Amino acid sequence: MTSHNSRIAVFCSGNGSNFKALFEVIRNKQLPAEIVLCISNRSQCGAMEFAQQNGITTLHITEKQFSSFDEFACAMVEGLKKHQIDIILLAGYMRKVPDAVVAAFPDRMLNIHPALLPKFGGEGMYGIHVHTAVLEAGETETGATVHFVNEEYDKGEILLQRTVPVLPDDTPETLAARVLECEHRLYPDALEKLLTLRRS
Ligand code: GAR
Repeated sequence: MTSHNSRIAVFCSGNGSNFKALFEVIRNKQLPAEIVLCISNRSQCGAMEFAQQNGITTLHITEKQFSSFDEFACAMVEGLKKHQIDIILLAGYMRKVPDAVVAAFPDRMLNIHPALLPKFGGEGMYGIHVHTAVLEAGETETGATVHFVNEEYDKGEILLQRTVPVLPDDTPETLAARVLECEHRLYPDALEKLLTLRRS
């Protein structure tokens, strides 16, 4: 049971269009949440720029900055604790989150995946690769999934899922754009669901 505004960290690696959609919905719908931290493995990307422009603290952190993976994982946990983070939202974060971070946020970390999990998930299945695989498999329907994060890639419990049609003349790029549009509505809805669960 939480009574204060949930403090959210988003993890991003690229454009951050899902991050931007979440930010807008939290503000417009006045959800009891606030994005207070943007973590990225890239010092410069659309997501980090957006965070800086909107007064959200940024943390650029990668394994390369540390002498061991454990140190990297500890520093990430420390950074999250320092900002009193309640919920982590992975939004186009193209790295595996260290197990120590997953363990520190049980049932409080979500990821968005651009397909209907459990199909088209797992290692190597990210971004455009997912849509290429969907087209190669001859699927007539795909979609987006928001799921809890556990130690295995794309295997955590599904929180919300929505379908998107595959059209006969789709390329990976046209399909990616249609799925992304769906993601921008799905992720805020999933966050709202998680907030409700945490308040009940
Ligand atoms: C989104 O389509 C997201 O689902 C995908 O990367 C894109 C990020 O776009 N994530 C994965 O493939 C993770 N396995 P964004 O940076 O514009 O939100």
